[in-house]
Amino acid sequence: MGKKEKKQRHQQRGSRRADFYEEEEGYEAGNSFPSDQEQPRPDDFEDEEDEQEEKNNDPQHRSNDMPSKFLLYQQSVQSPKGDISYMLKFFLMYVGGRQPLHLQEDFCGTALLSAEWLRSDPRRTAVGLDLDLEALQWCMENNVNKVGADGYSGISLFHGNVLQPLEAKLVRSDEPQELVRNIILTESTNDLVEASALESVQGGLEASADDNCTKRNSRLPARDIVCAFNYSCCCLHKRADLVLYFKHVLEALSKKGGIFVMDVYGGTSSEQKLRLQRRFPNFTYVWEQDEFDIIQRKTRISLHFHLQKQQKKLRHAFSYSWRLWSLPEIRDCLEEAGFQSVHFWIREMPDTKENRSTEGFGVAQDVKYEEVETFQQQDAWNAYIVAVA
Ligand SMILES: C[S@@+](CC[C@H](N)C(=O)[O-])C[C@H]1O[C@@H](n2cnc3c(N)ncnc32)[C@H](O)[C@@H]1O
Repeated sequence: MGKKEKKQRHQQRGSRRADFYEEEEGYEAGNSFPSDQEQPRPDDFEDEEDEQEEKNNDPQHRSNDMPSKFLLYQQSVQSPKGDISYMLKFFLMYVGGRQPLHLQEDFCGTALLSAEWLRSDPRRTAVGLDLDLEALQWCMENNVNKVGADGYSGISLFHGNVLQPLEAKLVRSDEPQELVRNIILTESTNDLVEASALESVQGGLEASADDNCTKRNSRLPARDIVCAFNYSCCCLHKRADLVLYFKHVLEALSKKGGIFVMDVYGGTSSEQKLRLQRRFPNFTYVWEQDEFDIIQRKTRISLHFHLQKQQKKLRHAFSYSWRLWSLPEIRDCLEEAGFQSVHFWIREMPDTKENRSTEGFGVAQDVKYEEVETFQQQDAWNAYIVAVA
């Protein structure tokens, strides 16, 4: 693959909803969504051929045969390099004067972004926080291990709620090389990174049962950047919760200056039922958007994966109940929480009604985000929102 092609491919992966095309005819749409759970149910594995049924009822066979839903998600949804490069640009523009070294990834899921953050500079640290313990554990075994020796010492993953971050528990691991920080005491009272005692943890991957290993009792460097990507703030439905979350972010940021970066999507296509899909070499990724309630501004998103080789469908691999916050609502909440300034960086996305390539990675989308004061409504757009502490 040539350099240009590689770059193009990266940019294509970098987009989220950009690379979808409308669903082919003949795809059998599901009628109902599960509740807020994000785990695939046994019924969510659908065979394309009846003769596969017996094999699929054998859980051993299924787990050996099926790639992890987290791996499929990372391959289809995430683009950590693109996000990091924008975050560095934003930090330089709105703070400057020093290199950002300390990142916090809220709603981190498998914390792919945090793992990528650690790769390029051994001085960097990352803190991840999520409600999903399985995703955090998967991160330890499949993302942090690829960072190299510095990975485990540079990352602190916490299992808990972004609305009560100090109660979140440190996720531990017992692999010999997997050392996690035994981080003690207060958070964000100053900008010093104190040497952390490294502890080899017993007892397997788990959220710590030890109450001392909460985020409250952890000595973490004040963060230069806090981020919440892939529309995660839409998981918070109440305005008061959004403001509370933003206040927690502000507390975690360095007193020397820092930024919070989140993303959100919108456009006329985001407020209606929609199914989009994108084909990868070994699987097809389907984004299913339920009806949009204009009173609550809520919808439900389900992500499905169709595996060609295995002739199986992993339906409802991930399912989210989202409130689609508008840009001015988010700005008001950020200002109410105490941020100094808020900036919108928007990128128009391809029209969801247009059919595009059904092979490979789709049509190249080399449209960059731009800072805007006004933006006319489109079929689909994506925004980074940057709040300066
Ligand atoms: C859309 S996923 C985003 C995952 C990842 N940030 C990414 O970029 O792909 C939303 C994540 O937020 C987590 N989550 C939802 N509500 C949360 C809360 N109140 N506190 C912490 N994590 C939460 C879910 O477990 C899930 O991993």
